[in-house]
Amino acid sequence: MVNRIISDYIIIGSGLAGLYAAHLASKFGTVSLLTKHSLQTSSTYWAQGGIASAIDEEDSPELHFEDTIRAGRGLCNENAVRILVSEGPKRINEFISDGLSFDKIGNSYELGLEGGHTRRRVLHLGGNETGRFIVEFLSQRIKESKNITVFENFLVHNLNINDKICYGCFAYSWNKKTDYTFSSSVTLIATGGAAGIYKRSTNPHSSIGDGISLAYKAGIDVINMEFIQFHPTAFYYETGKTFLISEAVRGEGAYLLDKNGKRFMKDFHQSAELAPRDVVSKGIFQVMKEQNVEYVFLSLSHLDNEKIKTRFKNIYEASLKYKIDLTKDLIPVSPAAHYTIGGIGTGLNGETKIAGLYAIGEVAYTGVHGANRLASNSLLECLVFSFRAIEDSLKRINNNLSFANGTQEYFVDNDVNSLYLKLKHDVHNIMNRSVGIVRAKKSLEDALELINQIDSGWNYKKNEYYSDRLKSLKMVASLVIKGAICREESRGCHIRIDFPKEDKILYNINQSINAGITRIKLYA
Ligand code: SIN
Repeated sequence: MVNRIISDYIIIGSGLAGLYAAHLASKFGTVSLLTKHSLQTSSTYWAQGGIASAIDEEDSPELHFEDTIRAGRGLCNENAVRILVSEGPKRINEFISDGLSFDKIGNSYELGLEGGHTRRRVLHLGGNETGRFIVEFLSQRIKESKNITVFENFLVHNLNINDKICYGCFAYSWNKKTDYTFSSSVTLIATGGAAGIYKRSTNPHSSIGDGISLAYKAGIDVINMEFIQFHPTAFYYETGKTFLISEAVRGEGAYLLDKNGKRFMKDFHQSAELAPRDVVSKGIFQVMKEQNVEYVFLSLSHLDNEKIKTRFKNIYEASLKYKIDLTKDLIPVSPAAHYTIGGIGTGLNGETKIAGLYAIGEVAYTGVHGANRLASNSLLECLVFSFRAIEDSLKRINNNLSFANGTQEYFVDNDVNSLYLKLKHDVHNIMNRSVGIVRAKKSLEDALELINQIDSGWNYKKNEYYSDRLKSLKMVASLVIKGAICREESRGCHIRIDFPKEDKILYNINQSINAGITRIKLYA
């Protein structure tokens, strides 16, 4: 039996973009909020640094604009950045009026500093538990709203698109083991990024680009997937376990040291540890290679111990589990895949080229991040572009649905679960080995070949969960690799050893993408 759910809005994904959009949309209509796990499972939940916004008297949207553009190495969509920095403070102030209280010292907000920012402008909550606090705040609002129904453990396997109009999606309920057809005039994809396709990642391993493959298989442009941002300082442990050591730790003055105790970042950039993220990750990579080691160290022992314990409480506690005391020990760190800069191509209101279909948050390519995202701009992007998408959607929500039918049956073959997990593990290793911080044509082509063959022993079954997962994983990994092969230049977080310079022609192509003139298919 197929269940049918009709609502004004369908929101797929429950990170900040999805939760915030649901909260806003519920003022205008009914909302079905679908998440493949629970409301607590998202990259937002783990976000530490905070939200960058020019709210301080000494700061301005113009300065925030300049820092974002500088970090983006020429590929930012300037219109999108202008919107981000100027509308951001309004969204933050609404949040504050709604009852969210960011950390303060006395009467002033305690603003953090992160790489690439020329001002302290990162608002945070609970020290460095910003993501958890925001998710809990919005989840509470969502539970209280009569207009929102949350569908947890639902897998969306196809969009319902006909004649360039989106009518909703098809989903499968894990708990009920039944099929659902969701219908609406407005569907928002907010499924987050794809950095979980790497072995070493700060993301939950469920972040494997579901929304990107949903859109791509429906023929929607996916842009600049090669720009996977590596966070410079993920905790290193020999078993491969990792967690994020926030950039805000360096903002408070932590040093990066090589195996001989030398502070090396000064050799790479005048801002040393607070250089933009791509520069720091590349610097660490180079030192690790030269010294033939798997990690470098962060050192905080010269900083105020009590402040470290309160400002970075959960990093302090997580490190203690590995017998590392942040206040006196050296912390082993190395870069890990962290953020998907590319994604589903959208306009300035999160709209895609399919009527009624929007993409918001990390899954979208709005052009705000260029070739290297400025730290803590991503949560701000979620707020600003979710708001704009809901505003834009108002023109659609009173339309009567003319095509709300169609069903798709789906099933799970548990016998192939372990083979799928093995292949997923193989994809993680291929991405880590060959599509990391520094790339080269030959190893990228070899990686693509391996990804192409990954399913050679697999017996695909139509509308089956693991077959679908494998196809999606393969598609997303291929998009990143093909993008990396096509981009014959080094720019921001995409570094090609065989093309070490920035390239003017590729720059021009990107500008036309930003201007919405040519939606070229880099990945055909
Ligand atoms: C961090 O806390 O370092 C992560 C913030 C971000 O990725 O923007």
